[in-house]
Amino acid sequence: MTAEHRTLAEAYPVLGLRIVAGPIELSGMDDDTLIALANLAVGGIHGEDEMPFAAPWTRTPPERFQLQYLQHHWGVRSRFAPAAWDLDLAVRYEGELVGSQGVMTRDFLATRTGETGSWLGRRFQGRGIGTLMRQTFCAFLFDHLGFDEITSSAFADNPASNQVSRKVGYRPNGVGRKARDDTWVTSNEYLLTPDALVRGPGLSVTGVEPVRRLIGLE
Ligand SMILES: CC(C)(COP(=O)(O)OP(=O)(O)OC[C@H]1O[C@@H](n2cnc3c(N)ncnc32)[C@H](O)[C@@H]1OP(=O)(O)O)[C@@H](O)C(=O)NCCC(=O)NCCS
Repeated sequence: MTAEHRTLAEAYPVLGLRIVAGPIELSGMDDDTLIALANLAVGGIHGEDEMPFAAPWTRTPPERFQLQYLQHHWGVRSRFAPAAWDLDLAVRYEGELVGSQGVMTRDFLATRTGETGSWLGRRFQGRGIGTLMRQTFCAFLFDHLGFDEITSSAFADNPASNQVSRKVGYRPNGVGRKARDDTWVTSNEYLLTPDALVRGPGLSVTGVEPVRRLIGLE
């Protein structure tokens, strides 16, 4: 083996990825960003009587919350492989950390599809940031990572998430039942294709080539 010294971001290039579009910046989550995101999430993402997530991670007891958030994302890093990878990016708006936007894939090289998911700290919601970050991320996935389609789903009682999907150009793709709190709720399924994407500001992307190699694109 030849001696070759690499930085952390060279060994795991997701950390060196940066996408800028107008006031939005999406970038890889280093550990300092992860703990800042965990602290933002502790400040609140939704009301006590609401649960927008299929896995209710926001109900983790406060004393375990930060560690569980870190462990989840360390798990994403440790499992990253072409056969199954999640790309979760930190979102900054006008330089301020506001939330997270990600996509989950399985057998991507064969399927060219993935499911998006996102959240914003409560005080940043309802200002158009969620729409802008999803537009930016979907444009990146289509233009730079070779996605053919992108899916998303939202509980029927989550109007903001449903509306963001519609505004970004996703088409309804059926409804299903998902378990929540020992019962079920209607989940609206959505599908986005490149021609239907409602684009936002143009993208400036750095650090994508090593990410493409990491997921087996070349
Ligand atoms: C979902 C989320 C990312 C959307 O981001 P956001 O910045 O709040 O969304 P935007 O401001 O860009 O747009 C929200 C849209 O929903 C609409 N909306 C919000 N609440 C609504 C309500 N109660 N009834 C009807 N429409 C509503 C807004 O009017 C807006 O649409 P418009 O621009 O056509 O008026 C954010 O609200 C969030 O983090 N929610 C909690 C976590 C979550 O639900 N994650 C997704 C899980 S599937």
